[in-house]
Amino acid sequence: MRSSLIFKIVILAFVFILSQSFLTTGKDSKNAKDEMISYFQVGGTDWKAPTYADKLKNPLAVDAKATKDGKNLFTTNCSSCHGDKGDGNGPASATINPKPKNLTSKQVQEQSDGALFWKITTGKQPMVSWQSALTEKQRWSLVNYIRQLNKK
Ligand code: HEC
Repeated sequence: MRSSLIFKIVILAFVFILSQSFLTTGKDSKNAKDEMISYFQVGGTDWKAPTYADKLKNPLAVDAKATKDGKNLFTTNCSSCHGDKGDGNGPASATINPKPKNLTSKQVQEQSDGALFWKITTGKQPMVSWQSALTEKQRWSLVNYIRQLNKK
């Protein structure tokens, strides 16, 4: 019975293909989406946070404490590239491409807190993701500090 053998092979192939697609859709789709976004943005010039980031709520009050925490974290982790004043002229900025952003610029300051938080969390070459190195609270305090940069 040749035809029934072919039939069995077709069914087996079908089941195999189906199981593969189940395996891939089983992944955390939000993380997969984030991965894709950061993947496609490597090397680009226009870095945009996804729209859902605008809806993230900053849990910290804009007070002296959060800003001071942010300042300390910034000096330790960020100023080598972004500069002490956040203007993008840190010592490491000379050798990296693309250049670190001037965080005091209108283009950065007009973005939502959530968008800046998302970018700090996600990273984009040559800036690493700060998701595992810094807690969520620390990343929000950095957002608060960035807000203060051009008020001095
Ligand atoms: C290795 C150097 C480096 C370090 C360290 C670094 N950054 Fe960056 N950062 C960059 C570069 C380069 C970009 C621009 C990426 C692009 O647009 O292609 C950037 C972009 C950003 C942006 C997005 C600006 C925009 O265009 O909207 C934010 C916000 C930011 N950095 C915050 C931080 C914070 C906060 C830290 C410390 C926790 C930090 N960065 C540490 C290199 C660095």
